[in-house]
Amino acid sequence: MRYHSPGVKKTLILEPDTQGLAAAGRILRQGGLVVFPTETVYGLGANALDAAACREIFRAKGRPQDNPLIVHTADLMGLARLARELPPRAAALAQAFLPGPLTLILPKTHEIPDEVTAGLPTVALRVPEDPVAREVLRHAQVPVAAPSANLSGRPSPTTFEMAREAMEGRADAIIRGEPSRVGLESTIVRVSEDGIEILRPGGISEEALRAAVGNCPVRGVFHEDAHAPPPAPGMKYTHYKPRAALILYRGKEERDEILRQWQGKKAGVLGLGESGGGAGLEGSILLRELSSPEDYARRLYAEFFAFDCMGCELILAEYPPETGIGRAVANRLLKAAGEKG
Ligand code: TXA
Ligand code: MG
Repeated sequence: MRYHSPGVKKTLILEPDTQGLAAAGRILRQGGLVVFPTETVYGLGANALDAAACREIFRAKGRPQDNPLIVHTADLMGLARLARELPPRAAALAQAFLPGPLTLILPKTHEIPDEVTAGLPTVALRVPEDPVAREVLRHAQVPVAAPSANLSGRPSPTTFEMAREAMEGRADAIIRGEPSRVGLESTIVRVSEDGIEILRPGGISEEALRAAVGNCPVRGVFHEDAHAPPPAPGMKYTHYKPRAALILYRGKEERDEILRQWQGKKAGVLGLGESGGGAGLEGSILLRELSSPEDYARRLYAEFFAFDCMGCELILAEYPPETGIGRAVANRLLKAAGEKG
């Protein structure tokens, strides 16, 4: 049986037990779409070697055709098989960080259909570390193409509830997994002659990459000239947007000034540590304190979701310090607020 039924799908909810994981593997092998947890965000997976199955991903998400997908494999050997070349620096990064929240852009083999890479000669490859994700990949016995399991433009799901809200009726199955440990998408890197380029900041920080590669230069290229073609095609689209209006602030004074301007509106506030403090905030304002940049990353999308569910018209989010995972949080906040990241 093939799974390419058009229209609204009947979505199975699978438990992350032996039976559920075997069913997920079977559905993927037969051309179906399975939502599964990873340590970064939940993914919407399809057999990466099946062009028709991958086309279904774009349909289910409403994703632009020119935005290529990340291919997930169960182990490093599986990853190496899909790359036409593995330059020594890329191999060193794979050894240092995989399984984990890092995606490598590498020259692709013919096995990977153009649907996956949007016609590019390169493919994005990653080995997730989440145990449920790894079991899904092991049972599937094929590489799995998986973007984040949200509708295009919306925040990525980091909990089962968020994934279900986004993909019920669109995917063939959703695995009831745990909340994602990192909470933001993987770091995407490309190895060039000049060193290592970060195309999207994420779960592995620039500092961690630097420490692993010694004297090889590492630079972020995600905030460069907005008119040049973006290195990761997906970075040119609006992304991560909650329904509520999102405004970023620095420090309590700025926060309170914005809240005064929007007085009477139901607002959600994301504040870091002490500076989050609740003095002077009234009933229609929901304050969520993040204890660290890691906590901010882990909870960001889930808090957007919660504020939207509670009918907030406005979300105020504090700028995180731009070091470590804070850089990835800042990048997502800027995009979600509609500014250039
Ligand atoms: O953490 C993650 O990476 C999650 C989980 C599910 O693994 N996946 C994810 O996929 O974030 P998605 O589709 O939401 O983002 C993929 C990004 C897009 O910005 C896309 O343009 C870029 O990867 N990308 C994919 N293939 C590429 C390639 N060959 N060259 C440059 N960028 C590529
Ligand atoms: Mg995405």
